[in-house]
Amino acid sequence: MPKTTKIPQVSTFRFLRHASEILKNPLPFHTENFKRHGDTFQLNLGFGKSVIFSRDAGFVQYALQKNQKNYTKSTIQTKDVAKYVGNGILTAEGAHWRKQRKLIQPAFHKKQLYKLLGRIDEAIKTELNRIKTGQSVDIFPVFNDLAFQTVVKSLFSSAVGADEINRLQHITEATQKMLVRELRQPYKGWWFKWSGQIKNHTDLTDEARAILIKLVQQRRKSNQKHDDLLDMLLEARYEDGAAMSERQLVDEILILFTAGHETTSNALTFTAQLLAQHQDIQQRIYEEIAEIKAKSTDLLGFLKGLTYTKQVIEESLRLYPPAYFIDRMNIEEDEFEDMHIPAGSRLLFSIHEIHKHPDFWENPLIFDPDRFAEGNTLKYSSHYYPFGAGPRMCIGNNFAMYEMILAVAEMISTFKILKKKTPIEILPLITLKPKNAFLKFEKR
Ligand code: HEM
Repeated sequence: MPKTTKIPQVSTFRFLRHASEILKNPLPFHTENFKRHGDTFQLNLGFGKSVIFSRDAGFVQYALQKNQKNYTKSTIQTKDVAKYVGNGILTAEGAHWRKQRKLIQPAFHKKQLYKLLGRIDEAIKTELNRIKTGQSVDIFPVFNDLAFQTVVKSLFSSAVGADEINRLQHITEATQKMLVRELRQPYKGWWFKWSGQIKNHTDLTDEARAILIKLVQQRRKSNQKHDDLLDMLLEARYEDGAAMSERQLVDEILILFTAGHETTSNALTFTAQLLAQHQDIQQRIYEEIAEIKAKSTDLLGFLKGLTYTKQVIEESLRLYPPAYFIDRMNIEEDEFEDMHIPAGSRLLFSIHEIHKHPDFWENPLIFDPDRFAEGNTLKYSSHYYPFGAGPRMCIGNNFAMYEMILAVAEMISTFKILKKKTPIEILPLITLKPKNAFLKFEKR
C-alpha cells in the first residue's frame, strides 16, 4: 500500500516493540501515539500492511457522512463477522445493504418500539431479580442475559422456550469468542482452520439457523398477531412487493442478536460501575424515579420522564463507548484537509479518543451527566458518536437507549449499589468490554 504523504508514521519497529502490551490492551499505545503525532497517524504493521488511526472528529464526519460513498466497511465486518452471521444489514455493502436497511428500518421507528416496551420491561425485571444482595456479584453476566432476553422477547414475544433461548445465546457468544480469537491471533489462522475450530463454529451457526427457521415457520402457521419485531419483519415488503426470503430473515435475526446484545450489556455494566462510584448520582436517579412515579403515568410516560437517567447513560457511553472503534476502507484515493489517503487504506476512527478529546470536552475524564442536560445535545453532536453516524448509524440506537434507561431505572428503584472505590477495568476486544465488574447491592 503506498504511503500517505502528510500523515505521521509509526514504524513497524515501534509496533513490534510494544506488541505484547498491545495484545493485552492497545488503547494506551494509541493514546501515546495521538499525543506524540496529533489526531491522525499511520501505524505500519509490517509486510506492507498499515492502519490509519484517527481521533479527528472532522475526519469521522467526512468518512461516515459527507463522503460516505467512498468509505466502505472493512473486511472484519463484511467477511469475518459475516462468516458467522451471514450477509445482512450489519455485514452487507452496496445495493444489498441499502435494500435491507430500507426494509428493516421501519421496525425500529420509535412508534413501533413503544409497542415493545412492556416486553422489554418484563425481561429487565426478571433478570434483575437474580441480583443477590449482601454479597459481591459480577454484574456483567446479569446484564448479558438481560440484553439477550430483551432482544429475543422483542423479536419472538414469549414464543420461544428457555432451552432454545439458552442454545441461541450460547451459539451467539461462542461464535463471537471464536471471532475474537481469529482477529487477535491472525498468525494462528491456519491452525484454527486445520484443527476444525472454524468449521465447528460455522456448524453452530447452522444449528442456530435451524432453530430460527423452526420458530419462523411456527409463527407463519399460527396466523396470530403478536405485534413484535418478527411480525414486522415478516410483513415488511421490498419495493416490488416481495417479502424477505427465509434465509435472509434468519440471517437478519442472527445479526440483531449479535449487534444488539454485547454492546448493550457492556454499556449497562459500565453504567452500574460508574453509579457505584457516584452515590450522589444514584440518589438523583432515585429521586427522578419517585417524582415520575408520583404522577402515576404509564410505561411510555415513565420512560419519557427519565431525562436525568438518560443523561447518565449518555455520559457513560461517552466514557466507555462499547463500539470504541469504527472501521472503514476508502474505495478511491481521497484528500481530507492536508492529508492524502491512498485508495484501499484501512482506517480506524477512535470513538474512545474523540469522546475524551480535551479540545471538545471540559474535564474529559470526569463522569458528569449534566453535560448532556437538555439544550446541550447539539453542542456535542459533532464529536459524540456512540452509535456511529451517517447512513450506517446503529439501527437499534433507540431500542438500546429505551432498554438501558428502563434497566437503570428498574435497578436503582430496587437496589442501592454500594460504594466501590477501585478503578473500572476494561477489556478492549471487538467491543469495549468490562472486566471484573464486581459490585455489592442492597435492597432499598
Ligand atoms: C449500547 C448499545 C449499542 C451500541 C453502542 C451500538 C453501536 C453501533 C455502532 C457504532 C454501529 C455502526 C457501526 C459502523 O458504522 O461501522 C452500529 C450498527 C448497528 N447496530 Fe448497534 N449499537 C448498540 C445496540 C444495538 C441494538 C440493541 C441493536 C438491535 C437490536 C443494534 C443493531 C445494529 C445494527 C443492525 C447495525 C448495523 C446497521 C447498518 O449497518 O445499517 N445495535 N451499532
